[in-house]
Amino acid sequence: MTAFDVRPITDDERRSTFDLLRRALHSPRVTDDLWARVGDSWPAVHKFGVFEGGSPIGIVSAFDTEIAVPGGRTVPVAAVEGVGVRADRTRRGVLSAMMAAQLADFAARGVPLAVLHASEPTIYGRFGYGSAALGKALRVTRPAARLHERVATGGEVRLLTPESAVQEISALYRRIGLHRPGMIGRPERWWAIAHDRLVAPDSEHLVAVHSGPDGDDGFVVYATISRRSLDSPDHGAVLDVHDLHAADPAARAALWRFLLSVDLVSEVHARHRPVDEPLALLLTDHRHAATTAVEDDLWLRPVDVAAALAARTYRAAAPVVVAVTDRLLPANTGHYEVGPDGARRTDAAADLALDVDTLGMLYLGQWSATGLAEAGRLEVRDAAAVARADELFTTVAAPWCGTHF
Ligand SMILES: CC(C)(COP(=O)(O)OP(=O)(O)OC[C@H]1O[C@@H](n2cnc3c(N)ncnc32)[C@H](O)[C@@H]1OP(=O)(O)O)[C@@H](O)C(=O)NCCC(=O)NCCS
Repeated sequence: MTAFDVRPITDDERRSTFDLLRRALHSPRVTDDLWARVGDSWPAVHKFGVFEGGSPIGIVSAFDTEIAVPGGRTVPVAAVEGVGVRADRTRRGVLSAMMAAQLADFAARGVPLAVLHASEPTIYGRFGYGSAALGKALRVTRPAARLHERVATGGEVRLLTPESAVQEISALYRRIGLHRPGMIGRPERWWAIAHDRLVAPDSEHLVAVHSGPDGDDGFVVYATISRRSLDSPDHGAVLDVHDLHAADPAARAALWRFLLSVDLVSEVHARHRPVDEPLALLLTDHRHAATTAVEDDLWLRPVDVAAALAARTYRAAAPVVVAVTDRLLPANTGHYEVGPDGARRTDAAADLALDVDTLGMLYLGQWSATGLAEAGRLEVRDAAAVARADELFTTVAAPWCGTHF
């Protein structure tokens, strides 16, 4: 493998690296107009590139935010985004070199966790990321889908103008809070991109807010896509839910009630919803809400294993000792005792052994130790420890990110 020279990008290289990313993701080139609108959201900070003759051939990016971990604490996290290698330079180690540099940077900055969404699930395991939170895709059929009579009614839904929407819902997102493991804070630059999408001349997005007894308590960003044609003039539109957050179950139900009331719609689609969101239970006939896919949502990598394990809480069970192996950040390799009183390094013999990417899968509570052991991802040295690990790591609410980046 060639050794690539990975370095932080400069201000002058922001547009060319953004362009490289867009081409790698099969989006059109950056126009002057698009750059004028979103260029500020692509700062040079926390970006590493590989260059050939002055032109970028690879880019990785990240932004700092916070993430909720099991038990309710929020901890700093690096959210990895903007990963691309020029099509004529793939499969020769450019990404590997950039990932190593980026992880070394996270470790040097003392960031305990890193997360990302993967374009393909085969890419990031080798860099220590594990699939840590799943999301489900739903298809709800209209007009058949109706909320049953015991679902509370009340409150008011109002549509916002695109210009004011981002200001209102960013404040509301903060107020709703990071109430599930895996939810992340949304920095201003995240909202700047959301704002651009809303106000773009060809935007199809609409934003609705629900107000309950204590004021605004939920929002949904959606788009309707017409499917009418000369051949099928009566075909209803698809309503596509992009972003839905609510402070409580009543607000969430009210937003779904609204979505299911929009005229001339025959199907409501949503992706990356929490796997335990009980939409089907709200309906008179649960068959009208079909789960069409369960997909990997958030990938997580412990960067500082000791700090990451200590940040979350564990349920009541006798402690287990896990042996963690980390090829890219060898300082993490070692034994850790995990119990209801917390987690710490230990010299004790290990009950279970796993690579750091599998620890990422276990961390937010998405996967059980039993399942990981059965799949051969976790080595069992003491069989009794598996059930204890199941109990320690499990969470009441399924983990969920709910923020696309
Ligand atoms: C994904 C991408 C960044 C990989 O870059 P790359 O420079 O080719 O990756 P590397 O050469 O460092 O690959 C390292 C290893 O991962 C494997 N790998 C990389 N990308 C892969 C993919 N998409 N599918 C399967 N394996 C992949 C390589 O085969 C290699 O395996 P090896 O170590 O066993 O030889 C690049 O293909 C790309 O830009 N794709 C389009 C944009 C994209 O998907 N970006 C990611 C957004 S989340």
